[in-house]
Amino acid sequence: MTELPGKELARELIEQSREAGMQTPMNAIIDAAREGRLDDGAASRLICRLWAFERLYYYIYGGWGQGMELNDYPPGVKYLFARQIMDDSTHEMLYMDTMLHKGWIEKQADAFTHPCGIFAINCALSSYVYSLRYLASYPHDVRVAALNLGTKVMEMAWMEPLAEALTDPELKAVFTSQFVENRSHISMGRRIVEEQVKTSFESELCRRVSLATRKDYLKFLNELVNMVFQRETDAQSGQVRGLFQRVIE
Ligand SMILES: [Fe+2]
Repeated sequence: MTELPGKELARELIEQSREAGMQTPMNAIIDAAREGRLDDGAASRLICRLWAFERLYYYIYGGWGQGMELNDYPPGVKYLFARQIMDDSTHEMLYMDTMLHKGWIEKQADAFTHPCGIFAINCALSSYVYSLRYLASYPHDVRVAALNLGTKVMEMAWMEPLAEALTDPELKAVFTSQFVENRSHISMGRRIVEEQVKTSFESELCRRVSLATRKDYLKFLNELVNMVFQRETDAQSGQVRGLFQRVIE
């Protein structure tokens, strides 16, 4: 392909997300790890919440997979999506194995009832999941712009320094081992946006959903950091806890 209609847009979105990813609430956790203040309890809450986050991609991708049938995309795009589902499923299992190996939980089922592992309908994690799940009926290239050139770029921006800051070899490996897949998610996102986003209408849609997704992801990170440091999440940010928590497993 000689012409890449979405090239400029992909670059723009990656730059915005990288910048947003440098200044996230995760910096507090990176600092704590660097200064040896991330104790075993804090680390267990971090891994458990990230496990909850990863496992919810099953719900998001499940919806998106159905949407793929409605859109006419080349087989390569569908293959890359299948690959991404497998990668994130690996990450989910990686967090689970860590919790079991560290002895933070006795059996898998315990993670589903752990305060950091439960999925409640009124938290920042659920808002993020609902937003992405809502994109099930959107064109695949638009939602890929939001996730792969949004959240995935932001995730890399905190995950690399966190891995570097951690001293526990097992915890360090949990994050470094995800680098290859996460980088490939960003590359596939770039490729899909560059090749598939062809109209100004679609470009604007990409910008809009990317911005909304980045905001939702920041709220999730804020909630995650509060959980790790055992702080109440501010009600003003819409993350009121304990009102009508309903556990969905
Ligand atoms: Fe992942």
